[in-house]
Amino acid sequence: MNAPLTDSESAQFVSWFRQSLPYMQTFRDQTFVIVLDGYAIADNRFQTHIQDIALLHSIGIKTVIVHGAEPQAIEQLQQQKLLTENRLPDIIDANMMPWMQQSIGNVKSKIEAQISLGVSNSPLAGHRIRVATGNYLTALPKGVIDGRDHLFAGKLRKVDTDAIKRQLKDASIVLVSPLGYSFTGEMFYLDAKEVATRIALSIKAAKLIFLTEDSLIRTQEGELIRELTLSQADDLLTECPSVALNQAVSACRQGIKRSHLLDHHQNGALLVELFTRDGLGTLISAGDYQTIRPAELEDLGGLTALLEPLMQQGILVPRTQAQIEAQLSDYFVETRDGMIVGSVALHKFAHTRIAELACLAVDERYRTAGRGQALLAAAEEIARKNNIDQIVVLTTQTAHWFVERGYAACSIEDLPVEKKMLYNHKRNSKAFLKNLTAKT
Ligand SMILES: CC(C)(COP(=O)(O)OP(=O)(O)OC[C@H]1O[C@@H](n2cnc3c(N)ncnc32)[C@H](O)[C@@H]1OP(=O)(O)O)[C@@H](O)C(=O)NCCC(=O)NCCS
Repeated sequence: MNAPLTDSESAQFVSWFRQSLPYMQTFRDQTFVIVLDGYAIADNRFQTHIQDIALLHSIGIKTVIVHGAEPQAIEQLQQQKLLTENRLPDIIDANMMPWMQQSIGNVKSKIEAQISLGVSNSPLAGHRIRVATGNYLTALPKGVIDGRDHLFAGKLRKVDTDAIKRQLKDASIVLVSPLGYSFTGEMFYLDAKEVATRIALSIKAAKLIFLTEDSLIRTQEGELIRELTLSQADDLLTECPSVALNQAVSACRQGIKRSHLLDHHQNGALLVELFTRDGLGTLISAGDYQTIRPAELEDLGGLTALLEPLMQQGILVPRTQAQIEAQLSDYFVETRDGMIVGSVALHKFAHTRIAELACLAVDERYRTAGRGQALLAAAEEIARKNNIDQIVVLTTQTAHWFVERGYAACSIEDLPVEKKMLYNHKRNSKAFLKNLTAKT
C-alpha cells in the first residue's frame, strides 16, 4: 500500500483542486480546437497529451483535434529518394502525394488508436471514446505562384461546419487530417495550423490551442512570454516568425477570444495551461476591454473574494456582501477564463452629474499588466455615456496612482453633500477628482 499523503502534499492537492474546479465548470460544453503537429506526435509525450485530451473530453469539453504529419512525411519522402532537404517542399508533385497520404494516414491511425485506449490507470479505463473522422474539408489547388505550379499543395476552400458540429453534439472527438478534397475528386495537402484556425472560426470555438514545435514564444533574453495582446503579438511577429503565433493572432483578430501556444515537450502542458491561473504557455487574447463587463449576481462570490482581503488591510472601505449585492448594478468586473480578476464600481450621487469611483481592485497575481488602467478607462467611458461630468475617488494608499492618471487632489468640502456627511474622519482618506468634460 502507498504511504498516506503528508500534510503538505494534501494541502497542495486541496489548493490545486480548489483552483481547478471552477475552470472545469466554466469549460464544460465549450469547444476547443487543438492542433497537434507531427513533431508533437513523434515526441514520447504524445501518449500523455492524448490521455489529457481524453480527460478534457470526459469533463464535457467538445474537442476537435487537427493533426499534422510533417516530420513523418519528410522521412517517408526521403526514404523514397523524393526529397533530400529536411523540410517539406512547397510543391507536392504526383509522385510525392501517395507517400504524403500514407504518412498522414499512419499518423491519423496512431491518434485514433491512442484515443481508443481511453484514460488508462483510472476509472475511465475502458470507457469508450468515439472518434469521428470524415471529409470535412473542401480544397482548392494553390495553383501557379510566381510561375510555378504547386500541383497537389492546396488551400482550404470550405469547412463542413454542420457535420463537425453534429459529431461534437454526439459526444465524439473530431479528428481532422490536413487533406482536402476538391469538387473534381482530387486530394490536396493542406497546412494543419491554417485548417485548425479556419475550423475554430467556423464552429465558433472558445479556444484554439497549439501543441506544436514552433509554439514556444520567448523574449530576446530567453524568458517565456506568458500573455500577449494582439498589438504586442504583431510587434513580435516581425522579429520572430512563428506560424503558430501568426495563426493564433489571425484567429483572435477574427473572433476567437483566446489562443494558447503550448510547448509539446512539457508533460501535462494542456492541463496546467487550462486549469491553473497562470498556465505554462503563451496566451493571446482578443482585446483589453472585451473582458470587462457589468457584474452579475453569480459574480458576487468572486467579487467578495477579490475585495475582502483589501478591506481587511484597510485599503478599501469595508462593505458586507449584502451591501455589495444591493448596489451590484454599479459594479463592473474583469474576468479571465470566467474568473474575476478585477473590479470597479461607479456610484452616482443623486441629482448631480457626479459619480464616485470605488472598489477599483486587481487580483494581486495579475497586477502591473495594465488591468487597473483598463478598468479605470472603462469606468470613465461608462461615466461619460451616462452623462457624468466628474468622478471623485477617496483613497488612503493609492493617491499617486490616480494623480498619474489625471486625478487632482480636492478638498472634502468639494464633495457632494451626501458624501461629505458620510466622510469617515478616522479613516482620513484623501479625495481626488477628475473632470470628464475637460479635454485631455
Ligand atoms: C491600484 C491597482 C488597481 C492597480 O492595478 P494594476 O493592474 O496593477 O494597474 P496598472 O497595471 O494599470 O498600473 C500599474 C502601475 O501602478 C503602480 N502602482 C500600483 N499601486 C500603486 C499605488 N498604491 N500608488 C502608486 N502607484 C501604484 C505600479 O507600480 C505600476 O507602475 P509601473 O507601471 O511603473 O510599474 C492595484 O494595485 C490594486 O488593486 N490595489 C489595491 C486596491 C486599491 O488600492 N484600489 C484603489 C482604491 S479605490
